[in-house]
Amino acid sequence: MKILHIIATPRGEESRTLKVSSAFFEGLKKSYPGCKVDTLDVTKEKLPPLTVKAVNGKYVLLGGKDLPEDIKPAWTEIIKHIERFLSVDAYVISTPMWNFSIPYYLKHYIDVILQPKYLFRYTEKGPEGLVKDKKMVVITSRGGDYSPGSPGHAYDFQEPYIRSVFGLAGIQDITFINSQPMDALGPSVQEEKIKESRELARKLGEKAFDK
Ligand SMILES: Cc1cc2nc3c(=O)[nH]c(=O)nc-3n(C[C@H](O)[C@H](O)[C@H](O)COP(=O)(O)O)c2cc1C
Repeated sequence: MKILHIIATPRGEESRTLKVSSAFFEGLKKSYPGCKVDTLDVTKEKLPPLTVKAVNGKYVLLGGKDLPEDIKPAWTEIIKHIERFLSVDAYVISTPMWNFSIPYYLKHYIDVILQPKYLFRYTEKGPEGLVKDKKMVVITSRGGDYSPGSPGHAYDFQEPYIRSVFGLAGIQDITFINSQPMDALGPSVQEEKIKESRELARKLGEKAFDK
């Protein structure tokens, strides 16, 4: 089994999100000792810019045509990222909440890979996701509390956005672990919530990608 781990926090060892995802991978390695993890840190990766040529390519594909020669160079890196994304069996995203949603690094990555013909296509019945039978686990941490039933819940544009955007690609089986609140109630609550989330994450890792 091969997993793509997409990291969207620049905070390295200081990251609360990564403290939780490390427990997930401990659980995963216990159940699947041979599993391979391809780590893509989108905060460090030089992602291709979406220049006018690159964006024009998207419209050519939307029109059902192949990329013309003059656009191909602008798509070399885009296609490499798409192929890397499609080459794995399952996905883990580790991302903090930034301004009620995802950090721009992750948005840039999504804008690069979510391309017609490769990840989805339009049919007479509407859009069809082309990434079939692959699961995703998303581990987030948030300064505040956005859990269902809380006043903050209506401001959680992160979980619905991630579900929608990867749902378009066909990835419907997405499990979230949201560690919260990390900042609003001080360090002792933060510590307690990280501990709780790590326990959940370890257990999830043991079975998340079972067939
Ligand atoms: C640029 C930026 C924007 C943020 N926006 C929010 C926000 O909208 N809501 C929230 O609850 N926390 C917000 N936070 C706090 C982080 O989500 C929180 O501290 C998180 O635990 C950081 O995760 P990390 O340590 O893995 O980077 C923001 C932090 C930064 C740096």
